[in-house]
Amino acid sequence: MQASQRDFEKAQNDLKTLKKDPGNDAKLKLYALFKQATQGSCNTPKPGMLDFVNKAKWDAWNSLGSLSKDEARQSYVELVNNLISSEGPAKDSSQNTGQKYETLEVVSKDNMTKIFLNRPEKKNAITLQMYKEIGLALDEAAKDDSVITVLTGYGDYFCSGNDLNNFTNIPPEGKEKMASDAAVVLQAFVDKFIDFPKPLIAVINGPAVGISVTILGLFDIVYATDRATFHTPFSQLGQSPEGCSSYTFPRIMGLSKAVEVLLFNKLLTAHEACKLGLVTEVFPDSTFQKEVWERLKAYGELPKNSLAFSKQLIRETEKKNLHAVNVQECERLRERWLSEECMNAIISFFQNKAKL
Ligand code: COA
Repeated sequence: MQASQRDFEKAQNDLKTLKKDPGNDAKLKLYALFKQATQGSCNTPKPGMLDFVNKAKWDAWNSLGSLSKDEARQSYVELVNNLISSEGPAKDSSQNTGQKYETLEVVSKDNMTKIFLNRPEKKNAITLQMYKEIGLALDEAAKDDSVITVLTGYGDYFCSGNDLNNFTNIPPEGKEKMASDAAVVLQAFVDKFIDFPKPLIAVINGPAVGISVTILGLFDIVYATDRATFHTPFSQLGQSPEGCSSYTFPRIMGLSKAVEVLLFNKLLTAHEACKLGLVTEVFPDSTFQKEVWERLKAYGELPKNSLAFSKQLIRETEKKNLHAVNVQECERLRERWLSEECMNAIISFFQNKAKL
């Protein structure tokens, strides 16, 4: 349900009752959501580099892109509720599950657990910590009382894929260790999606890149705004497909279309992805959040066990293959991450960034 003006005002008052300082990140997010909810998209000039405080506030507001006032109000209310409940005693699953995640926000309400990717200033790029937190959030959602589980993103992107900084933090043992540790994290992450026992729904709120596209074959429903695009530039990066997409994409979209996407970096619009079967339905951006959450709320009222068992019947026969594919894809990536092709591509991403 969308937060009303009254909920919004109540949240502003509730915020004053917080016992602990919520920290700069949360305060910036609250500021940005408040501005977006009351004034719409950021429309003020960017402050100068040395005006640190105002620049940080401007960046936070600007990172919300075209998020509608209604969505911003809703997110503001959810964030305040999360901050408040994280100060209180242990919660049951009818409430928010709190702020134990640094890179996510997880909200359980209306028989639905929503997992928000929460690094909008980095286009929700997935750090190693975030891979682990998503895995933990899925473990919890699998066990909680919710009927369906939803993954979505804050800000203007759904997700820009693997955080390329994951490749720059080389441990003292060397890059081989970095690659094998990352492969272990990735394999465990994808396993969580393969094994997830309830209906899993992706709400694609903006462009999706890399692994945030490839795992979509493991979701049961994918709803997208018409502003979303889907891009897997693996060969540009000297890498190879993951998320079981080497197996699911040819089955979903046919071999030659999957080859264009996974080998030749073809970017799909939301409508193209829908035509190919990767996306279930596309919604106009202006009504996306309202229509999708209303529909999901109705799904959440269906009988929990019937949905879970039906999903398991549909997925069970493929599970063994999917796990085997996941092992192979991660092993190939471990090798790719150490390759000259990949290293050169990562270096050029950061060099281009430095030039801007
Ligand atoms: N890894 C690391 N940092 C990333 C990132 C990623 N995958 N995606 C975005 N970011 C960072 C940017 O470096 C930038 O950081 P800064 O503010 O410190 O400079 C910030 O997020 C915002 O992104 P920016 O590039 O300014 O936004 P944009 O709208 O111009 O472009 C993208 C967005 C996603 C097209 C661009 O950031 C990009 O190409 N990212 C890499 C995507 C990728 O190759 N992913 C891996 C796929 S396998």
